[in-house]
Amino acid sequence: MSSGIDSREWYKSAVFYQIWVRSFADGNNDGIGDLYGVYDKLEYIKSLGATAIWFNPLYPSPNADYGYDISDYCNIHPDFGDLEQFKKVLDKAHELGMKVIMDLVINHTSDEHPWFIESKKGKDNPYSDYYLWRDEPNNWDSLFEGEAWEYVPERGQYYLHLFAKKQPDLNMDNPKVREEVKKILRFWLDMGVDGFREDVINFISKKEGLPNGIGFLPVIGSMMHYKDGPHIHEYLKEFRDVCDEYGAVQIGEGPMTTARSALKYLSGDTKSMDMMFSFDHMMADCLFTEYMHRPFKLIKLKKALSKWQDKLNDKAWNSLYMENHDHPRVVSRYGSRKFHRESGCAIAAAYLFLKGTPFIYQGQEIGMTNIKLRSIDHYVDISSKNNYNKYNLKKDEDFRLKRIHISSRDSARTPMQWDDGKNAGFSDVKPWFYVNSNYKEINVKKQEGEDDSILNFYRECIKLRQSNETLIFGDYYEYEKANPYVYMYTRTYGNEAFIVICSFARESIPFILPKAFRGVRTRLMVTNYPDKRNKGEILTLPHSGLMLYPYEALVVRAKART
Ligand code: GLC
Ligand code: CA
Repeated sequence: MSSGIDSREWYKSAVFYQIWVRSFADGNNDGIGDLYGVYDKLEYIKSLGATAIWFNPLYPSPNADYGYDISDYCNIHPDFGDLEQFKKVLDKAHELGMKVIMDLVINHTSDEHPWFIESKKGKDNPYSDYYLWRDEPNNWDSLFEGEAWEYVPERGQYYLHLFAKKQPDLNMDNPKVREEVKKILRFWLDMGVDGFREDVINFISKKEGLPNGIGFLPVIGSMMHYKDGPHIHEYLKEFRDVCDEYGAVQIGEGPMTTARSALKYLSGDTKSMDMMFSFDHMMADCLFTEYMHRPFKLIKLKKALSKWQDKLNDKAWNSLYMENHDHPRVVSRYGSRKFHRESGCAIAAAYLFLKGTPFIYQGQEIGMTNIKLRSIDHYVDISSKNNYNKYNLKKDEDFRLKRIHISSRDSARTPMQWDDGKNAGFSDVKPWFYVNSNYKEINVKKQEGEDDSILNFYRECIKLRQSNETLIFGDYYEYEKANPYVYMYTRTYGNEAFIVICSFARESIPFILPKAFRGVRTRLMVTNYPDKRNKGEILTLPHSGLMLYPYEALVVRAKART
């Protein structure tokens, strides 16, 4: 790509594929996805048009939070393979022209990490100050498991855990801990990885003295004392310096990040990240899906997306996603079961053409859907269990279970549906977790054979995006903001414009175009109704309304107007 991209800025024209390896592909048939399976699927990932891969944590972990509780930062979980196998995957990905980034989880470790095992022994060993120990707890709640403090009789003190008990928070104020982080960065960068996705990175600097939170929700009320903390940019600068030496890309996960605070991480003197993952658009059906679910509102989704597009424009670069390992499946949330194919495509078109770098989560490209397990005991995710035991306690079991069906992260973690054979082609033996019962209808093999499938729609959109500077660098502008059914935006660059129109209505609806577009001659580039629209042909946008089919997605190209 031209347009002044320096070598690190490959990410601006990249499309990422995210792999949660335990459920991706089982290469050695023990029921658990692994790096042998990944190795064999790299061509598939490449065939989507992806140019980069983000791996969720691959490190040894007791799996209290499936890899986000790390017991050894410089190794590979034996379930997934070993360092040698990782290197093979890395080299092959590179040969295929794909970059690879790792998940960096430094807010906390596992309680089984040697640092913590030492630290809890007493106040006078080299690791004593690696974690946050107090004689008395404050009033903070953890995000995953009750109060944020756990007593250790051996040391006679409490340690802080913002997440599960088995995820003690590191004391980033200790320079020795920061040196350890730099060693981890170098270890993976020396091996050849291209960057990091950095877990809850805006939580790593806590306010001095760890004061009590305020307000009635101790978890939210205390966040102000650890989100965007006092030394955050200082510490991240130290890590940035290491990444700068290698030209490594850094992407920060920022729970509760506003566009304004994200800009501090993404631009100016405090720039430490190339992109941030925000959560605003994940609230279009909920405020924390788990306990305050509301029906999906397109307006909310549009507003959140446009806010980030506009606020970051020309100042920073957006990351774009609709799914990841922390959210239920997007077709089940923002789409439709009846119009599974159509809505899966509409969701894709709605975000793949925004300004920023798209991320696709495994299974999203075939429209995988949520699972509904019969009992909470069948769920394995710690946050789902926590939410079940914490919210809606006065409601009956059925109601509470339904909430979990709607919200559980486990829905994103069922085995990948490769074909309609045994175990959905994920493994020859019984997989570690439930396969979604719809795998005979929704699977990769079937969609490979169907021109109009969600899978091939993703390929088509990505191809168009990758072959066109306007879709990478062009300006974003949203139209018809108040329309509750249609998302319409343009991307313009030089004298070229792309117009994206996505309906989220369950029936055909007339759509009156904004005046400036009426009578405009365009070329139809993308459609999810190939039997009804003529792709590649001229489409003159009508003066009367344009009839949009249920969940129709249209991308047309036109001459830009000034
Ligand atoms: C991030 C991860 C999530 C994990 C949490 C704690 O939000 O994406 O999976 O549970 O951090 O590490
Ligand atoms: Ca395996």
